[in-house]
Amino acid sequence: ELPFAESYKIKMVEPIYKSTREQRKEWIKQANYNLFNLRSEQVFIDLLTDSGTGAMSQNQWAAIMTGDESYAGSSSYYHLKDAIKNILGFDYFLPTHQGRAAENVLFSVLVKEDDVVPGNSHFDTTKGHIEYRKASAVDCTIDEAFDTESLHPFKGNLDLNKLEAVYSTHPAEQIPMVIVTLTCNTSGGQPVSMQNLRDVHTLSKKYGIKVVFDSARFAENAWFIQQREDEYRNSTIKEIVAEMFSYADAMTMSSKKDGIVNIGGFIAMKDEELLKQASVFNIMFEGFNTYGGMAGRDMNALAVGLDEVTTGYYLENRIQQVAYLGNKLIEWGIPVQKPIGGHAVFVDAKKFLGHVPKEEYIAQTLAIELYLEAGVRGVEVGTLLADRDPKTRENRYPKLEMLRLAIPRRTYTNNHMDVVAVALKNIFDRREEIDHGYRIKKEAPIMRHFSVELEHA
Ligand code: F0G
Repeated sequence: ELPFAESYKIKMVEPIYKSTREQRKEWIKQANYNLFNLRSEQVFIDLLTDSGTGAMSQNQWAAIMTGDESYAGSSSYYHLKDAIKNILGFDYFLPTHQGRAAENVLFSVLVKEDDVVPGNSHFDTTKGHIEYRKASAVDCTIDEAFDTESLHPFKGNLDLNKLEAVYSTHPAEQIPMVIVTLTCNTSGGQPVSMQNLRDVHTLSKKYGIKVVFDSARFAENAWFIQQREDEYRNSTIKEIVAEMFSYADAMTMSSKKDGIVNIGGFIAMKDEELLKQASVFNIMFEGFNTYGGMAGRDMNALAVGLDEVTTGYYLENRIQQVAYLGNKLIEWGIPVQKPIGGHAVFVDAKKFLGHVPKEEYIAQTLAIELYLEAGVRGVEVGTLLADRDPKTRENRYPKLEMLRLAIPRRTYTNNHMDVVAVALKNIFDRREEIDHGYRIKKEAPIMRHFSVELEHA
């Protein structure tokens, strides 16, 4: 059998810069030990996020050139409307400038004070938009998701007992929706099975609750359904995607992930009344309903991206690269969330750095070490991200402290993955020497991880 190779070649290249450890030591100090404060030139391989960092295809760039910049009724809007109808199955949609804007608009209609919003490990902006409205997010993810060694094939699944416990102890008026995140970013890019989507839908309809999918990585989720759920082995990705969304009343989308564009988002829904209500907020916050904060050219590129992400070899290439990095780490005994997820490798920092106390931000400490080692920028998904409890203002210590290495789409080669893997291995080999972390100098009242300033503990 021949080895695996990508089914694309590279037409345009962007130089990236190597640096010395001495330079990086100085730069990270100037950045107050917050990787978000680094300049991109100070980073060699940037795995901070897979959001808006992917490479567009020649067909997407061609679509950019034919974008229609009319304020109202542009052809680009209609191209996108057709793609959303044909691929995702929603009759109505509103463009927004990115995913969190979609949340802001939709939740302005649906969420009020004291509401309860169950889901599978809500993403931080999703939770932020819920808590900002003085409502609360209840995590109903299955317990297996928190055991990084468990090989459960669908660690993004919701636990139906936990979900029903929420439904049966609150009046339906207090539960505006359940949010199912596909794939579940927070628990490691882990998929939700079709069976679970179907069951969540059935249970929610029984209690009269709306089902909303946070769909940023919906295509990656469909790939795992095709690979891991017997019934779908012979289905196409487009068929799987269509069935997935048949179980949702509405969706929010960060197009910066599985739209394979650099900016954009949308809300889609089946109910015209919800469209009308959300339109009011969309016009106030985002823009008129046929552009919603997006340029016409970007809507055009997104329409093409939605088709590409669900066609041909794209997903095989994508998931292969993430697994390539993950499997190297597994081979060397480095603790990661297993099985490897769709968009990122999540390193289990508590198991990796056993000597750093949790009060000193274990995953952040590992992220800084990796930057110093090789100029690789990952991101903390741990105590800094979990933030303080909005009521008690105490630190929330999540079950998992993770260093996320998110792989941008079609951007790096497997040689880059090799550098990341070896850098982590070098740190792993000297992990006993790392016995203290960092403490906070300054932090913001909400979403602190973006701007927090740290110093050596
Ligand atoms: N939902 C999920 C599951 C996400 O991962 C993100 C963003 C959003 C919503 C918000 O979308 O960034 O377009 O406003 N995740 C990025 C990340 C930032 O790095 O995981 P956005």
